[in-house]
Amino acid sequence: METYTKIAELKSRLAELKMKEGKTIGFVPTMGALHQGHLSLLSLCKSTCDITLASIFVNPTQFNDKADYQRYPRTPENDGEMLKSAGCDIIFVPGEEEIYPEKDSRIFDFGKLDKVMEGKFRPGHFNGVAQVVSRLFDIVNPDKSFFGQKDFQQVCIIKNMVRQLNLSVEIVVAPTVREPDGLAMSSRNMLLTKNQRIEAAKISQALLYAREHAFKTPVNELAGEVIRRINSSPELEVEYLEIVDAGDLQAVSGWDDAGEIFACVAVHAGKIRLIDNVQLK
Ligand code: PAJ
Repeated sequence: METYTKIAELKSRLAELKMKEGKTIGFVPTMGALHQGHLSLLSLCKSTCDITLASIFVNPTQFNDKADYQRYPRTPENDGEMLKSAGCDIIFVPGEEEIYPEKDSRIFDFGKLDKVMEGKFRPGHFNGVAQVVSRLFDIVNPDKSFFGQKDFQQVCIIKNMVRQLNLSVEIVVAPTVREPDGLAMSSRNMLLTKNQRIEAAKISQALLYAREHAFKTPVNELAGEVIRRINSSPELEVEYLEIVDAGDLQAVSGWDDAGEIFACVAVHAGKIRLIDNVQLK
């Protein structure tokens, strides 16, 4: 596995691989603190591209809460070992001065897409995601890039950004990987207390309940019941639960309102914020 910290060196190696050797490049951007969810993207990448490149960069511009940025887990040694044993070909671990030599003042317009859910409760978050992912795409120029369904709204934003910027990268989406009790894997899970971790299983259980009862229950009633089930735990508090059209991310009021419908939730477990989603239709 080759490791690069400098853009210029990575670019010249990639030029070699692409131009001289005609290799296709698959790219998995991450913020590290890797788990099986990240590795599932990596293995999908490996199975469809000649070269698998992962990046690790905890992007400051997507954190609207400084304390969240500071406490975000950083496990570089473990990440390196995991990527190596997963057969990653190249890792890119840039410093902040490499990605942002100057302050990035670009403002993206995502219309309605970033006015709801994560965008509403974490103002500026998706602008920061778009800044870093567009920068990384510009550096790597991948044939394909891999993202998790776990961050459902992020996928919509990235696809929209790729269209806006006319990029030729193909965005591939991989299903959410879960712990045995159903909790969606997340780098933030390691910050939970023992009891919060146990109780956090209620989030995916409530979403499963939603999947079982969709169509049989009016949308608003079902949303209320999902919130009630999660909030029944003293450790958890729902920030939002939205049942949305997968196309425009706007809330639906009936089951016939959209072709594909997702239930998306954000939950506070103490200071830690967890998100999850499930497809209902
Ligand atoms: P990070 O949270 O590290 O996630 C990196 C990728 O792993 C994302 O595409 C995310 O959706 C995916 N992922 C996380 N948990 C997953 C799970 N349980 N199952 C499947 N995939 C999962 O998302 C980011 O980083 C950043 O916003 C980034 C795109 C790297 C930009 O900074």
